[in-house]
Amino acid sequence: MTQDSHPTPLPPRPFALERFYARWEFDVAHNLSASDVEPVGLGELLALADAESAALWDGLRLGYTESAGHPLLRWEIARLYERAVPEDVLTFAGAEEGILLTAAALVGAGEHVVVVAPVYQSLHDVARARGADVSLVWLDPDRGWELDVDRVIAELRPSTRLLVVNFPNNPTGALPEEAEFRRLHSACAERGIRVFSDEVYRGVELDPGRKLPAAADLGDRDISLGVMSKAYALAGLRIGWIVCRDRDVLRRVAALKDYTTICSSAPSEILSIMALRAGPTLLERSREIIRENLALWADFADAHPERIRWTPPRGGTTVFPALAGRDTDAFCERLAAEDGVLLLPGSMFDLPGEHFRAGLGRRGIGTGLNLLSERLRRAGR
Ligand SMILES: Cc1ncc(COP(=O)(O)O)c(C=O)c1O
Repeated sequence: MTQDSHPTPLPPRPFALERFYARWEFDVAHNLSASDVEPVGLGELLALADAESAALWDGLRLGYTESAGHPLLRWEIARLYERAVPEDVLTFAGAEEGILLTAAALVGAGEHVVVVAPVYQSLHDVARARGADVSLVWLDPDRGWELDVDRVIAELRPSTRLLVVNFPNNPTGALPEEAEFRRLHSACAERGIRVFSDEVYRGVELDPGRKLPAAADLGDRDISLGVMSKAYALAGLRIGWIVCRDRDVLRRVAALKDYTTICSSAPSEILSIMALRAGPTLLERSREIIRENLALWADFADAHPERIRWTPPRGGTTVFPALAGRDTDAFCERLAAEDGVLLLPGSMFDLPGEHFRAGLGRRGIGTGLNLLSERLRRAGR
């Protein structure tokens, strides 16, 4: 495939996690597995608005907007990065459209892509559907989901076009040391391999000092993916973005966006400007909810030492414990159907067996955790 062709994405495998949620998410009483944060209410957000964004909201006309994104929104997004300017930003309907279109624009048949796993399915399956040869390098559960940079480097080939990473990681909460992340980035840069860094959980590190540099700041060819859904707790806005200082990348991805959403939702753009201007308040709100829930999950793990093995997360909104001796596909089905409690089986991340994803972002998880505890106690008798 040549760089100038405009590939049409092929349908990838069904998205296991999204299909699982389509079945259960809106029917269960206790979703203990969500990766987003307790959504901010519209009134709550409007109350945080500065004068300019409040006036934009009051005067909003519901027409098409600029296809690369509202100029003020691109400006606010660029401010999140050290080296980006608004022209380096392209907005999407959520991060998901950004993943689909970036992979479709940059990856062709026969090319090699390395993806650090476990990871959100589209981050490897879109490339696979493009006909790429995808190598997964797994974080190691026996070493606390640590990233082994040398193992990733060993997978890089002359045909490797892209390295895909997601830190803080969904589902494990893993977050490498900055020096290791930089070492991995340098190894890719030396080989001319672009890094596609899914940074949708950036900003919710448990130790704020552990925040990694953005890929788009580290290299002028590399791509950072961001979104309002996770750290900012505004998934319903469906606003995501990529930042890349290589304008050719933005041009190629934007050419595909003309065939999907054309431009972003006008109300969502203004609400996102408002939210980014109130960013520190929203991020602290998210971190506080996560810290409280992490304490509840730690108590839960302590109460079931014979059943639960886990590595506490370093960042993000999820954790990926193991339920000793259990097939979590069957367990999660019964838990949802009989107790109305939703956990996500590890098979949704191509890791069938004992692991399950728990979410740390939603408020009011106590009753669901109690029901889960009771089920484990009953099963232990
Ligand atoms: C790592 C990662 N990237 C991208 C997405 C997609 O984000 P959005 O739903 O905002 O499009 C998700 C959603 O869970 C995710 O976990």
